[in-house]
Amino acid sequence: MVDNIDEIARNLQEAVLAGYSKKFEDELFDARNIGTIENPDSHVRITGVCGDTIEMFLSIKNETILDVKFTTDGCGATVACANYVARTAKGKSIDEALGIEQDDVDQYFESLPEENKHCAKLAVMTLRALLEEYRSKPDPEKVGDGSVVE
Ligand code: FES
Repeated sequence: MVDNIDEIARNLQEAVLAGYSKKFEDELFDARNIGTIENPDSHVRITGVCGDTIEMFLSIKNETILDVKFTTDGCGATVACANYVARTAKGKSIDEALGIEQDDVDQYFESLPEENKHCAKLAVMTLRALLEEYRSKPDPEKVGDGSVVE
């Protein structure tokens, strides 16, 4: 009986993942960047054309991205794409991470099905918004307390 359930589960998984690459499957089932960051340096919530939302959190020091975490109510492709951009951004400068393109995600996954191209776009848009939001904040080192330093 257990063997049958395992086989059913395996068949279902294969059916759901038909059309997706092994890299996609690995990313989805090992999505270690899911989560939140307490007191993040930046935080955004972006909703895509399909109505799904990604929330992303940034930890950065000396212009080097230390960590990016995300949560989403989106599909499995959104999870895989957001995880890919989050882990790829780690260790990069802001400018380098801003260079991550929708096509990079699509190529890494060996071409996403047409109906999931926008999931890659949403993940990249959210990362960009996260970094722009961080850049738009006043630099704490430039913001004084109003006193004049001679
Ligand atoms: Fe909406 Fe994937 S289906 S982002």
